[in-house]
Amino acid sequence: KLWVCAVPLVVLLSALANAASIGQDERVRYDNYSVYKVKYANALQRSVLLQLDEESNDFNLWHEASDQVHVMVSPKAKLEFEARMSQMNASAEVLIENVQSLIQDGSDGALRDSSFGWTSYHTLEKIEAWLDEILASYPEIVTGFLVGQSYEGRDIRGIKISYKSGNPGVFIESNIHAREWITSATATWFINELLTSSDAAVRDLAENHDWYIVPVFNVDGFVYSHVKDRMWRKSRSPSAGSTCIGVDLNRNYDSHWMENGGASDNPCAETYAGLSAFSEPETKALSEYISGIKDKVNVLFAFHSYSQVLLSPYGHTDEEFPDNYDDLLQVAKAYADAVNSLQYGTTYRYGSSAEVLYIASGCTNDWAYVKADIEISYTIEFRDTGHHGFLLPPTHIIPNAEETLAGITALLAESRELG
Ligand code: ARG
Ligand code: ZN
Repeated sequence: KLWVCAVPLVVLLSALANAASIGQDERVRYDNYSVYKVKYANALQRSVLLQLDEESNDFNLWHEASDQVHVMVSPKAKLEFEARMSQMNASAEVLIENVQSLIQDGSDGALRDSSFGWTSYHTLEKIEAWLDEILASYPEIVTGFLVGQSYEGRDIRGIKISYKSGNPGVFIESNIHAREWITSATATWFINELLTSSDAAVRDLAENHDWYIVPVFNVDGFVYSHVKDRMWRKSRSPSAGSTCIGVDLNRNYDSHWMENGGASDNPCAETYAGLSAFSEPETKALSEYISGIKDKVNVLFAFHSYSQVLLSPYGHTDEEFPDNYDDLLQVAKAYADAVNSLQYGTTYRYGSSAEVLYIASGCTNDWAYVKADIEISYTIEFRDTGHHGFLLPPTHIIPNAEETLAGITALLAESRELG
């Protein structure tokens, strides 16, 4: 008899505890959650590791490369996780001991001080207010554009910087993944440099290209990552028949959608591709916007973090390569060399996405290459290689942005050489 009522009591208590830790106004906490780097030996081990992410909230996939995954594990699942890893003979190393310790409460200094800058990460509200200031300060050069509305009805905004007509266009999509805050911080710094730098190379870069920049593309996810869950990746649309929320917008583009296991059909997975290609208002709107200007744009960058790589098409297969793959490699080398020559000495790898990382289908830069004829089309994964991961300290914002500026300058110069 006692047994019978003990079980519901445990269930009730844990339900209460859960409710307390994710209450309405509270942020999700990651006390003693750890991030492990696991080197896997074969495809079977890989699939076991990826399965964990879909299995429960105790596991969350942070990063995947051709020989390893980084996975965040809850404190209560650590022992079981370590046992499972040693059982399958995979080596697991701790990259981050306590995730919560890297999530600084109030990391958004803008909550306290009103000036916009790059010594802290900012909320969407702050970023949009800054965009409005930029629009007001440079009415001759900067125009705003509206990509469309998100699932929750927010505007997805972009700005165009154009010093003269007839320039080749460069498109930048940033923060499609909510938790990758370094991407929008870098995009806004980059905008500021284009408009204010007196460096000759930057002036040349700014004035001889038309820039189309969307600093925060996944607006709903970004807001959610600020107010609720710092580790959120996807959008915020619900799925029928599941309690899990959100689509991986970078798997939702209409380019080899869901081919070759490059995404998941499980709404609870971090790489859920959605019900169909362009099922999401965000990706549909951006693809329509880009299609409308595609004759003017021949370069696209999709900003991501982390792992310090430049990823060209294709993502959906490692058996085929783009016709201009040699050119793509050559311009990426110029980017990587330029970054490496800065005082920080940061190294970037480059190559086709499927080769360098893993098979991923329905991604922005693949769609841009395959469907919008944008010949130079790269996903750029910024700092670092896992010691902070998505929780890159704000002291890295300016160095990372300087690297991006040097890299993009060199890449575009190299592509001009190619003609
Ligand atoms: N980390 C990114 C993601 O998983 C990179 C994907 C790049 N792949 C590609 N096919 N462009 O979404
Ligand atoms: Zn990403």
